[in-house]
Amino acid sequence: MEQKRSSFTGKIGFVLAAAGSAVGLGNIWRFPYLAAKYGGGIFLLVYIILAVTFGFALMTAEIALGRKTGLSAVGAFKALNKKFAFVGYLAAIVPMIILPYYSVIGGWVTKYLAVFVSGQGRAAAADTYFGDFISGVAEPIFWFALYIGVTALVVLFGVEKGVEKVSKIMMPVLVVLSVFIAIYTMFIPGALDGVIYYIKPDFSHFSVKTVLAAMGQLFYSMSLAMGIMITYGSYMKKDVSIETSVHQIEIFDTGIAFFAGLMIVPAVFAFSGGNAAAINAGPSLMFETLPKVFDTMYGGQIIGAVFFLLVLFAALTSSISLMETVVSIFCDKFKWNRKLTCLIVFVGALVIGLPSSLGNGVWKDIRILGLRFLDFFDFISNSVIMPLVALLTCIFIGYVIKPKTIADEVALTGKFKNEKLFTFVIKYLAPICIILILISSVLDVVLKDGFF
Ligand code: PFF
Repeated sequence: MEQKRSSFTGKIGFVLAAAGSAVGLGNIWRFPYLAAKYGGGIFLLVYIILAVTFGFALMTAEIALGRKTGLSAVGAFKALNKKFAFVGYLAAIVPMIILPYYSVIGGWVTKYLAVFVSGQGRAAAADTYFGDFISGVAEPIFWFALYIGVTALVVLFGVEKGVEKVSKIMMPVLVVLSVFIAIYTMFIPGALDGVIYYIKPDFSHFSVKTVLAAMGQLFYSMSLAMGIMITYGSYMKKDVSIETSVHQIEIFDTGIAFFAGLMIVPAVFAFSGGNAAAINAGPSLMFETLPKVFDTMYGGQIIGAVFFLLVLFAALTSSISLMETVVSIFCDKFKWNRKLTCLIVFVGALVIGLPSSLGNGVWKDIRILGLRFLDFFDFISNSVIMPLVALLTCIFIGYVIKPKTIADEVALTGKFKNEKLFTFVIKYLAPICIILILISSVLDVVLKDGFF
């Protein structure tokens, strides 16, 4: 671990690698269903406000922590203050929880790619298609295993660079295609109501849950509060501007999420008239809605196939970065060899992911805190551990090592323009909001609905 770290080449190398980790299913699958469920425009507004305050401050802090110490999460906290090493450990748990269920969804994407490539996209547009598929036993598990197997092979053979190269071409194409699909969708009769719902904030839909959901999504989407950006920062060269990089990653990440929402939410209105059940569909939203859009499109089969291929790549670059993180945590900690560790992580993720897959069918009645397995893992990582890690990181920087330590690292490449905002968010805004939200969300789940 202590050997010399390799660095990202060129100024743009860092941004691309970090964006590869950031842009994934979080943007395309998770953001739209949360936006639909939590009030449309008001969710979007809250998300953007959080992105330019919390997101900016936390991402800056994590990257600077990594670059300053040259270490990944546990080492970075430990190097600056031994008592805070536990924050690094806590952060390290998050990718371990996310990787298995992320791969279950990755499996769904792979299945849909296969469906469109084999010309069965029409069938996928039927109302019951997705529900029938995920409630099965063998099929979703097969696609899940295939997806995680591919992820493991890439990590095992160390061909991440190759995947990154391909995805550098794929990502811009994904942006263009998403914009195209979003514009197309807007012209489907009935979609305009959805566009308004998605863009125009309606304050009557605002609740504490909106903020919690948006905050969890922000961490998830930008790969924050899980140690990832600290590791990326440790590879960043000293002459690359942290502030500019953070802005670029944020714009890219939020932009893709925005267009994914614009592509999916209006379509829900067009095909279901915006009824509550459809809007609240949750994880199934993208899979139920997009095939209907492609079905109405000239050349929809091919466009659908290309779309799911691009989403698959975006997902893979993220799950590779997740698995890579988990593997390196175990390698560093237990000094296991890399090959064996990959195998163990692969098998572990497969086993832990199984309930998330089966929880949509045969195990759907087994609930933890009233949630199905997949939703439970999602809740515990996004709404509990990540806010906690973010809170502890803020306390650590705001009151232990002081914001100035981070600001100095950022200022190595020139003036830190938003230093005041950074300090204010880290010291006051973020900790206070996170504490309030954490308490209310945990109370909400524990005492069951009806509070907010
Ligand atoms: N940020 C990714 C997404 O939005 O899909 C999820 C993710 C990828 C989180 C990689 C963490 C990570 F290391």
